[in-house]
Amino acid sequence: MPWWAYMAVVPYLFYFSDCENVSQDSGMLLFIPKEENKENVAIGKPTGISTIKHNMPSCRAVDGDFTTFFHTHKVTFSWWCVDLLKYYDFTKITIYNRDDPNTEPNRIKTFEIGFKNEGSCNNATYLAATWCYKDDQQVQTVYHITGCNMSPIQPFGSRFIFVKLERVPIYPLHFREMIVSVS
Ligand SMILES: *[C@@H]1O[C@H](CO)[C@@H](O)[C@H](O)[C@H]1NC(C)=O
Ligand SMILES: *[C@@H]1O[C@H](CO)[C@@H](O)[C@H](O)[C@H]1NC(C)=O
Repeated sequence: MPWWAYMAVVPYLFYFSDCENVSQDSGMLLFIPKEENKENVAIGKPTGISTIKHNMPSCRAVDGDFTTFFHTHKVTFSWWCVDLLKYYDFTKITIYNRDDPNTEPNRIKTFEIGFKNEGSCNNATYLAATWCYKDDQQVQTVYHITGCNMSPIQPFGSRFIFVKLERVPIYPLHFREMIVSVS
């Protein structure tokens, strides 16, 4: 390679070294701190999505970078999932909606949050999840969720967290970050 080709590749490798080049879209384990931060137990945990578009993987929602987002295809249902690796009681789930100029912030409207304590971030576990919270708010840039609102009301805690979007007209699912605070 000529010298200038290295100049082009090096920053690219640096930028994509953490979360981008996953062969399977199942997140990263590299950045789990020894002492867990109860303010956010989701950071760096394994993630997945139903379908991936624009090479925007699911791990972007737990990478601590509030400028990146993941993206599913525009199909009848979409889900994003994080595996917290063990059960936690939650005090708050915070979702950062896309806020860049190219988005329609209301695409996330009517999203739901579901829980499951075994399985993995796949369609089977998604289908078996129990649904805790359904968005019925005005569109927010940041959603602060502190309990379940779907009946039957279930405990606000889980190992797996799914976010699903299933609405007409069909929109893709994408958001920038999820923060999971625990007691
Ligand atoms: C990431 O993928 C791109 C495109 O396939 C490749 O050029 C690059 O070398 C990969 N980076 C790493 C860190 O594996
Ligand atoms: C989940 O199911 C949908 C619809 O059948 C399919 O398009 C998608 O690839 C599946 N995703 C995963 C991660 O298995």
